[in-house]
Amino acid sequence: MPDQLTKLAYQTLQQGKALLGVTHKEVSTRLMGLLAPEGSPKTVPVPPELLGRLKQAMDALHERDWQEAEQGLYPASLLFDAPWLDWASRYPLVWLDMPSTWSRRMERNVRDLPRSIDPEDFPDYYLQNFHHQTDGYLSDHSAALYDLQVEILFNGTADPMRRRVLAPLLRGVRAFPDRPAGQIRVLDVATGTGRTLRQIRGALPKAQLFGLDLSSAYLRQANKWLSQLPGELPQLVQGNGECMPFAEGTFQGLTCVFLFHELPGEARQNVLQDAFRVLEPGGVVVLADSVQLADSPQFSAVMENFRRVFHEPYYRDYISDDIEGRLRRCGFEGITAETHFMTRVWTARKPR
Ligand SMILES: C[S@@+](CC[C@H](N)C(=O)[O-])C[C@H]1O[C@@H](n2cnc3c(N)ncnc32)[C@H](O)[C@@H]1O
Repeated sequence: MPDQLTKLAYQTLQQGKALLGVTHKEVSTRLMGLLAPEGSPKTVPVPPELLGRLKQAMDALHERDWQEAEQGLYPASLLFDAPWLDWASRYPLVWLDMPSTWSRRMERNVRDLPRSIDPEDFPDYYLQNFHHQTDGYLSDHSAALYDLQVEILFNGTADPMRRRVLAPLLRGVRAFPDRPAGQIRVLDVATGTGRTLRQIRGALPKAQLFGLDLSSAYLRQANKWLSQLPGELPQLVQGNGECMPFAEGTFQGLTCVFLFHELPGEARQNVLQDAFRVLEPGGVVVLADSVQLADSPQFSAVMENFRRVFHEPYYRDYISDDIEGRLRRCGFEGITAETHFMTRVWTARKPR
């Protein structure tokens, strides 16, 4: 059981990450204002009382993260899990990459992708520089910087937000009490560099884990991270979440984290429909993505700025989307939703 000293260490770590994230963004925004003023995004003001509310919501997220570790849902070591040395060595690359990000933003160039890719291999909506990211999701360079960039963007809360899928996932797979732990199969759709799979492996160490993503570069990076720790190596498969290369009824649990805000509505529906197909009856789907206007109207300025600062072409549509309605249309039941800081988590079950 984690003790109070560990809790203090966790809180200190999270405060340190928040401070680094805020400082990094402050410095880079000022630098951009000086060096590339035309590219500077015009953001809406965030009132001071909103900053207080954000801080409260972030503290509540950390408390929840701690409590669920204390309850034994996942090992407390996960709270500290990150490739610290690797990130430290890659941090200068994040700065070196910025001028090309600024110039893409200034030129409104959102289709600046590696020449080596074949556009036929990907859906058109995917072939963009989401977040103005160099190479989009389509190179080892992009995959090497992604985790660190996300940590900075979320002030160190990315993993605590991803871990919110664990409790509903664990509750969901308990619907198969007679199934030995080693025969429970869980798929993480749009697994990216595998951070969510790493959390799931901590919570369900014996389960058979699978990760699917369109980017082979991100899957290569996921393979590297996941191979560093002991435990079964998840199977990583390249493919589209809209039509997955798995048979009907293969999985008892399915997660999908931070994908939906980057999909057009039709693709969101297709992913949910295919999730329904690949789940065994009784299986659970757990989605996590940005909060939306209906559940977190107080954070609308933050959502607006996210859309303005980053290239997120489907975000405006996403924050007004009715995800519960989409789940129902696919046939899911027992739909619930909860909010943790800037993340909304939906859970639903495929009827038996
Ligand atoms: C914002 S990242 C989230 C990655 C990861 N889930 C995380 O928590 O960091 C979005 C990921 O979705 C993948 N992706 C986008 N569209 C996809 C699709 N139709 N099918 C599978 N993966 C997709 C991208 O390659 C990228 O890795």
